[in-house]
Amino acid sequence: MTIAVCPGSFDPITLGHVDVVRRASAMFDEVVVALGRNAVKHHLFSLEERRTFAEEAVCDIPNARVDVIPGLLAEYCTQIGACAIVKGLRSGADYESEQAMSLMNRHLSGVETIFVMGDPAFGHVASSLVKDVAFHGGCIDDLVPAHVAQALARVRREREIKEK
Ligand code: PNS
Repeated sequence: MTIAVCPGSFDPITLGHVDVVRRASAMFDEVVVALGRNAVKHHLFSLEERRTFAEEAVCDIPNARVDVIPGLLAEYCTQIGACAIVKGLRSGADYESEQAMSLMNRHLSGVETIFVMGDPAFGHVASSLVKDVAFHGGCIDDLVPAHVAQALARVRREREIKEK
């Protein structure tokens, strides 16, 4: 049985992420969408919220499940017997940042990272951009699952009330 891990901070999960999970699910027996903490990012949503959003987003992919990385991703991969980490690439800039992480994870546990090119329709979709657009009143309906768009709209309303 082949297990792959699609890791990320998923703050929140986007349709670009779901596209990558779907592609991985066609190549491996099981795909674990694994939520991790990115030490250099401030997360908008709590771990539980991000987990719930991810679970709902991939619920129609039968061989995908969601989990939380308790510590190091490399150790988690060894623990669950994953043979690969799968990450999506949108651009050369993604490659630059992903290269160091993939080499570090291989250094730590020998796990290989496989990069897939996502659907170009999502080439401009990043969680950080989606949040920025949403908080400035832009439409993100075709960039994130509907439940995520609703959650971002709720946060925007809460922020507006606080600012009044
Ligand atoms: O979506 P992101 O923010 O690019 O995801 C980064 C993430 C969560 C995959 C990465 O920060 C991670 O693996 N965190 C777990 C801790 C860890 O293993 N850090 C070393 C990474 S080489």
